[in-house]
Amino acid sequence: MTAYHQFLAAHPDYATTGALDDLRAAEYARLDAHGQVYLDYTGGGLHAASQVHEHAQMLSGQVLGNPHSASPSSIKMTQHVEQARAAVLAYFNGGGEYTAIFTLNASGALKLVGESFPFETRGKLLLTADNHNSVNGIREFARAKGVTTTYAPLTRPELRLDQATLDGFLSDADPAAANLFAFPAQSNFSGVKHPLDMVARAQSKGWHVLLDAAAFVPTNRLDLRVITPDFVVMSFYKMFGYPTGVGCLLVRNASLAALRRPWFGGGTVNFATAQGQMHVLSRGEAGFEDGTLNYLGIPAVAIGLRHLENVGIHTIQTRVNCLTDWLITQLLALRHSNDRPMVRLYGPANMVQRGATVTLNFYDPHGHLVDYRRIEELAGEEGISLRTGCFCNPGAGEMSEDLNEDDMRFGIGQIGAEINLLRFSQALQARGKSAGAIRVSTGIASNFADVERFMAFAARFKDQTALTIGAVTFDIESCRVVRDGG
Ligand SMILES: Cc1ncc(COP(=O)(O)O)c(C=O)c1O
Repeated sequence: MTAYHQFLAAHPDYATTGALDDLRAAEYARLDAHGQVYLDYTGGGLHAASQVHEHAQMLSGQVLGNPHSASPSSIKMTQHVEQARAAVLAYFNGGGEYTAIFTLNASGALKLVGESFPFETRGKLLLTADNHNSVNGIREFARAKGVTTTYAPLTRPELRLDQATLDGFLSDADPAAANLFAFPAQSNFSGVKHPLDMVARAQSKGWHVLLDAAAFVPTNRLDLRVITPDFVVMSFYKMFGYPTGVGCLLVRNASLAALRRPWFGGGTVNFATAQGQMHVLSRGEAGFEDGTLNYLGIPAVAIGLRHLENVGIHTIQTRVNCLTDWLITQLLALRHSNDRPMVRLYGPANMVQRGATVTLNFYDPHGHLVDYRRIEELAGEEGISLRTGCFCNPGAGEMSEDLNEDDMRFGIGQIGAEINLLRFSQALQARGKSAGAIRVSTGIASNFADVERFMAFAARFKDQTALTIGAVTFDIESCRVVRDGG
């Protein structure tokens, strides 16, 4: 029996997702044409060829100008933007209850919440340790208004939220003050799906809830009639690859009034005077959409959502769950000849409440950590795209490796003023800890051959020492791998 047949026997649901193989052949043929294995869907989704084609046809067949004016080209463009807005609200079932604000990306949406939330000294900001840096950054807006940030810890090794501690923090708020609780629906580090019932629980205790749905919505349905966060953020390229440069903040209408914009700009005011130094902010989403929107890109959001609807999010979810389950089982079974495990997995080792993001590190037969950047380099040579580092989620990374404040200070002490991440991670390595990891994630166009190729690649490291595999660092500015000392 081939590995594929064994996989099918163990994951019979996979057979129900055969339409995705046809889809891959028709819409994502570039993957196989270039022999590429794409395993970075949590970094960015892939677009179907027809999305780009339909968008290009729309742009080349119409005269479209800057929206919000009375000219024919402007009226047409306004219609397209508003259709896309309606499509977003319909997709998430938020019509009537939510306002959709277009932003540059999820980070732009998070910044809007951070700068507009009415933090006050009696209020609180509660973040989960598992959060993207663009959520962590909100603490700086809170700090500026004298509000301290509390982090809810994770449990090891699953990296789930410690619910008892969280409940204690949630109960500790003054419901009469403005309190903000922010968490990701799905971790971009470990793939953990955090319980969405925390939204209603926190709200009942006097919190506004900000749900970071960026890593969740590419493979899961979010129904805003069922789960009703005050704020939801996402980036559309993560859902369907194209367009980049458009994200969204969905705000519950009842919570919109609580936000206070700290400035105004072009497009956000109904009235402004230079002489009188007064302005009147536009109502609804217009008051939050600074300057000129990415108006030509926004209609591609409606095209992408239609594509996702046609493919079916449930089918995608079924497929990536099967692939992830197989991948995890195979990775954990990898052993050196001396029976030591080759891989350390961060996060759940099963499919209970987790998505298609798998984070790991390789270890050699002596138990020494293999440089994750070197793994990325070697994977690249085989046409495999994966992601390494801390994925802008320092809290989950620190918890996964049990890195404490002392470790961080020790690591920083070793590098002094010079910011050299290689030295920093070597210092942590001396303490048996890692400052980064390897992330593999599947999505809409993934198939068994992709994960099988990754496993064949992973198996190569059997019995190899960390020294022979080598260490590298990546210079982000030149986009080049630089060897230690060179
Ligand atoms: C969970 C999560 N939140 C927020 C972001 C930020 O998204 P963007 O870089 O598109 O603003 C990301 C991106 O990786 C993410 O995975």
